Amino acid sequence: MGTDLHELLRTLRVWDPETTELPAFDPAAAPAEPLALFTEWFAQAVAAGQSEPHTMSLATADPDGTPDVRIVMLHGADEEGWAFATHANSRKGRQLAARPYAALGFYWPVQGRQVRVRGPVTAAPAQEGQADLHARSTGALAAALTGRQSEVLVSTQELARVSEEAWERARRQPDAPVPSWTLYRVHPEEVEFFQGDDRRRHVRLAYRRTEEGWTKALLWP
Ligand SMILES: Cc1cc2nc3c(=O)[nH]c(=O)nc-3n(C[C@H](O)[C@H](O)[C@H](O)COP(=O)(O)O)c2cc1C
Repeated sequence: MGTDLHELLRTLRVWDPETTELPAFDPAAAPAEPLALFTEWFAQAVAAGQSEPHTMSLATADPDGTPDVRIVMLHGADEEGWAFATHANSRKGRQLAARPYAALGFYWPVQGRQVRVRGPVTAAPAQEGQADLHARSTGALAAALTGRQSEVLVSTQELARVSEEAWERARRQPDAPVPSWTLYRVHPEEVEFFQGDDRRRHVRLAYRRTEEGWTKALLWP
């Protein structure tokens, strides 16, 4: 018998008090710049036991504006922006070449928190992208060396063969170059912090970059 999806959905809740502790968030005490608050919330997500807090949704768009989204890893966030890495010739890489704007979404359910980041995207110099890759695990290098991301795969046997060769090369040559592998940065123009509240009085604090610096505003939830 198949699963009744709708029945199953009705049994589910967000922010189960058994597993979630919704922290108090006072937006009046928030720092002047979003990077400081992101860094604070990220550390709190790790401390609260949030699994994989460094994974995020990355939204891009086709040249005609059709949206797309997938999960990638956060490689860093600093004054230069929020960084991730991927192949320039992947679907997202081609989308970014045509339309260099992206949005990022983080969800940390253990604390009922969400962070959204939007802005233009630039590619870091090739040398920096390769150094970032070579500082990562053998598996990350093997995956990058496997290449052909987003192309049609004819058979899983073909993937197994190419991946095996990639693993072998990654072990033998830990600094093997992967020319298509690129470090990208989202330069934030808007960053929004959402703190869930059990009475549904969620707090939304939106930072916006202006000529004079960052402004902050509360948004209705
Ligand atoms: C937890 C997780 C982390 C991922 N991290 C990355 C990443 O850092 N870079 C990447 O290119 N793909 C990553 N992927 C795979 C992407 O979600 C996606 O399948 C792939 O990049 C192809 O996307 P595209 O066809 O839109 O270019 C990750 C997937 C998951 C589930």
